Amino acid sequence: MTQLIDSRTPLLVDDPDWWRQAVVYQIYPRSFADATGDGIGDLRGIISRIDYLAALGIDAVWLSPFYPSALADGGYDVDDYRDVDPRIGTLEEFDAMAAALHEAGIRLIVDIVPNHSSNRHRWFREALASPPGSPARERYIFRDGRGEHGEIPPSDWTSVFGGPAWTRVEDGQWYLHTFAIEQPDWNWSHPEVREDFLTTLRFWADRGVDGFRVDDANLLAKDLSADPLPTAEELAAMPLDGTHPTTDRDEVQDIYAAWRAVFDEYTPPRTAVAEAWIESPERRARYASPASLGQAFNFDLLQADFDAAQFRRIVTDNLEQVTLSGSSNTWVLSNHDVVRHVTRYGLAPLKGRHAKQGIDWMLAGAPEDEIDRGLGERRARAATLFELALPGSAYLYQGEELGLHEVTDIPDEQRQDPAFWRSTPEERTQDGLGRDGTRVPLPWSRTGSSFGFGDGGSHLPQPAWFGELSVEAEEADPGSSLQMYRCALALRHELQGGEELVWDETLSTADVLAFERPGGWLSVTNFGAEPVDLPAGELLLASGPLDGDAAVGSRRLPGATTAWLRRSAL
Ligand code: GLC
Repeated sequence: MTQLIDSRTPLLVDDPDWWRQAVVYQIYPRSFADATGDGIGDLRGIISRIDYLAALGIDAVWLSPFYPSALADGGYDVDDYRDVDPRIGTLEEFDAMAAALHEAGIRLIVDIVPNHSSNRHRWFREALASPPGSPARERYIFRDGRGEHGEIPPSDWTSVFGGPAWTRVEDGQWYLHTFAIEQPDWNWSHPEVREDFLTTLRFWADRGVDGFRVDDANLLAKDLSADPLPTAEELAAMPLDGTHPTTDRDEVQDIYAAWRAVFDEYTPPRTAVAEAWIESPERRARYASPASLGQAFNFDLLQADFDAAQFRRIVTDNLEQVTLSGSSNTWVLSNHDVVRHVTRYGLAPLKGRHAKQGIDWMLAGAPEDEIDRGLGERRARAATLFELALPGSAYLYQGEELGLHEVTDIPDEQRQDPAFWRSTPEERTQDGLGRDGTRVPLPWSRTGSSFGFGDGGSHLPQPAWFGELSVEAEEADPGSSLQMYRCALALRHELQGGEELVWDETLSTADVLAFERPGGWLSVTNFGAEPVDLPAGELLLASGPLDGDAAVGSRRLPGATTAWLRRSAL
């Protein structure tokens, strides 16, 4: 085992299970804090805000891609997996950031993007400069086209961001890109590709990185041997049972077995969490197994309405699922790919948008005048306390602690998301305007050209109302969302014990969900409209004001509110 730089404090070194119930805060580096004043967030900006992260009470930071990139897909088009984008910082600054986070007791998870590189990656350039059939092309997925002159793509598949999934190169061959044109898919059957990723994992683990978030973890292994390839329609109809040509193939686990061996070279073992939009709990459990990545995101809450029955079913199912995998639960309400939950919950009954699973759904947006902000805020706070009382780890997305809304009115010409640029106006009416609205730089102060984000403006436009939701404004307001998150995380640290959850069947109704955690920690959420009585016990925290007079012992929990109590000892 080699470790060049391990800045983790003794406090952080020896707990192999730290991730099981950790609160992980996702930083989208370009939009967090800009210390260099070029309008783009950077590593020095993160370093300057470590006190804020420590005061929030998180256990780990997950850093979205910070690698050199043309930003065709917000950095998920990686030019070089073992370097830092000069606009974001340097490797020395990365080391300084890791050290400062560790010093503050915060662990560091980095994003790894293994399904595709960027088209500027040295191996893709080499592939383009080499003839069809050459070894350099083998690292990616090149095919001849159909038709007399090969002018028809190898299949009619469409990319996730719209348009064809194949792009033709100068000599007439086509390459596969599941996402944007600038994101050619790797050929994971190639030993050099496999080996190079192991080198990358070691590179970051040696620098003290504690874990990895694995992008599109279910897409790496592919079997494109059929000739002709199945049509898009046939592909969509194929069962997702481990034999599908492009998605969740059984042999993807061989890749992760090799990754696990690398993780286990370290003390404590490095962790990983799979981003895998997979519906079947059994199939998802494979990624969460200790022999594989160890955790897998569960996006179920994120796709649900604010609804007691849906939330209960999701919790029950996921508790069962972790018994299959031996992992812990992962809860997510927002991330950089979806409409922020405070805004989602303000969209009266979501007009069926939520019914569209996965990738299509996550692009949905809505015009400003359709959003009931007050309702969204109450529900978001209630859902957040519900989430934070659950066993397992919670993944928070930067700005959600402020109750920051989606920015829905970014002018078209300032949008960056390929999901916007590759879709037609008709598709946008259906699927929304893309993901820029959740990636607008954070407001740190009430005023100033970029609300304290940096001196050089902001790479996506911030609306005037950002000032009211800034860190400065919320620090001064005891009832703010930020204060609620701080209290909740501090309490959670204190209360969090074993991973058991017991539903309180007396308190739970069609509109109310109540559950108890070890130590008498009770969480009660009212999903309905009418207030309900709270049981006896010490009130620890509520997501909003309660009804009734506490002095005379009457406390009622209003609709769209969660309360945490400590049950009185009998
Ligand atoms: C993942 C990322 C998303 C990105 C896509 C392609 O879904 O979360 O942001 O666009 O992969 O890398």
